[in-house]
Amino acid sequence: MKQPRKIIIDTDPGQDDAAALMLAFASPAELDVVGVTTVAGNVPLNWTSRNARIVCELCGRPDISVYAGADRPIQRQLVTAEHVHGKTGLDGADLPEPTMPLQQQHAVDFIIETLRREEPGTVTLCTLGALTNVGLALQKAPDIAPRIRELVMMGGGFFEGGNITPAAEFNIYVDPHAAAAVLAAGIPVVMMPLDVTHQLLTRRTRVARIADIGTPVAKAMVGWLEFFERFDEEKYGSDGGPLHDPTVIAYLLKPELFSGRHCNVEIEVESELTMGMTVVDWWRVSGRTPNAQVMRNVDADGFFDLLVERFARL
Ligand code: RIB
Ligand code: CA
Repeated sequence: MKQPRKIIIDTDPGQDDAAALMLAFASPAELDVVGVTTVAGNVPLNWTSRNARIVCELCGRPDISVYAGADRPIQRQLVTAEHVHGKTGLDGADLPEPTMPLQQQHAVDFIIETLRREEPGTVTLCTLGALTNVGLALQKAPDIAPRIRELVMMGGGFFEGGNITPAAEFNIYVDPHAAAAVLAAGIPVVMMPLDVTHQLLTRRTRVARIADIGTPVAKAMVGWLEFFERFDEEKYGSDGGPLHDPTVIAYLLKPELFSGRHCNVEIEVESELTMGMTVVDWWRVSGRTPNAQVMRNVDADGFFDLLVERFARL
């Protein structure tokens, strides 16, 4: 029997982060969530740390260790996205305040300690927000880089452009310096950019399939999706909004849903105009060393089939 893959989920919940956490918790045979670390992003750190615990308890996982991390990016001022996620970051469903504790240890120290304790190459980092916690961990303990099995991130965009500026995707824009440090660390990186997530629209038919599950978890998810997509529908004029973060977990469960190319990715950290842009050398014209598997295609129906099948388990 194959052992479940050890993962740390670093997150800024966020309704779509909640969907990613739920997908992971619904898949214990494949994924062992050794810890959840929170970061400021969609909303400030106190809210993301509250929200992560709300999702854990909703999914029947009050045993999960949740560690609060960075309350601001490494160099830049914090930019948040209440206009998308609401004031709490989990607007759309009315759930009780969490009762499970927040761990005392800082998320950065938890990431370092876990990677130093576990066998090299056995822990996967799943980042759903700004890369600040991982960037700080690499700064504080460069020895952890070769011990990371893989880092699967939701972030970036190339052919699809940006969503917080014309050039930049939100997670990278919030902390471009952390993203640059992660991409320079020699870690096996898988990047799920807007080029993939903009193909994954929460269409009414797809949300209806989740609603048909009929459980409290599904009801909360539908409330979150209906709140979260309203911004994107106005913005993109589409039937539903892109579902970003569950792509990271879906890749671990069914990598065959995705395809892309190993190429070089550099981050703009100088120009305000293009700050946080992921400069993807898709056509390999720069001669720069490839440092990320950049995904570009996804089986959208297969992705939502996986979500519905797993959400029904919770
Ligand atoms: O740009 C989308 C990303 O920014 C998602 O992770 C969303 O949750 C926000 O963090
Ligand atoms: Ca997120």
